[in-house]
Amino acid sequence: MELLEAIAQRRAVRDYAADAVDGATLDALIHAAVQAPSAVDSQPWRFVVVRQRALLDRIAHEAKLWRLRSESSTELRAHLENPAFHIFYNAPALVLIAAEHESPWMVEDCALAAQNLMLAACDKGLGTCWIGLAQDYLRSPAGKDLLGIPQAWVPVAPIIVGRPRVPAPPHPRREPQVRWID
Ligand SMILES: Cc1cc2nc3c(=O)[nH]c(=O)nc-3n(C[C@H](O)[C@H](O)[C@H](O)COP(=O)(O)O)c2cc1C
Repeated sequence: MELLEAIAQRRAVRDYAADAVDGATLDALIHAAVQAPSAVDSQPWRFVVVRQRALLDRIAHEAKLWRLRSESSTELRAHLENPAFHIFYNAPALVLIAAEHESPWMVEDCALAAQNLMLAACDKGLGTCWIGLAQDYLRSPAGKDLLGIPQAWVPVAPIIVGRPRVPAPPHPRREPQVRWID
């Protein structure tokens, strides 16, 4: 797949087949992720790959409860209170990209790595979705303990990965608003 094709075709996938994603494939995605640029070449990204079904379900459950404590949107609360709503959409894998410690550009650096990972997954026929709803929980001491990661790490991008059950629908973009200054 050409790069521009992958950029155009990547979609947030919210319906996954149960098949596991093999370790070699996830490793290849992570190697694509670390090709991203980073401020002063700090390469602050660290990766946690979760494929254990029981742990994925536990994180999804805890993250929903965590989010419900602070969520003010009635619509989102209703979603989160629905026991059938799995915030990871039952995806078979989660790749969490975290910064090794707080730093001024950690979000930019890790987000660029995340985009590389999502495009590489698209190239391999896999679906992904950044799950912002899980971020607050994963950044909490309890979330870090559950994953067994150092408390100094700062989780930035929880990306679910799996084989899409059906192709994700197109998501047209608004025309870019550009001021040309020639
Ligand atoms: C920072 C960030 C957080 C997101 N959080 C969620 C989320 O918690 N749940 C979800 O279903 N989609 C989430 N998304 C996916 C967006 O909803 C999706 O990218 C957007 O609707 C555009 O659709 P597309 O990715 O298919 O082009 C998130 C995307 C980003 C970049």
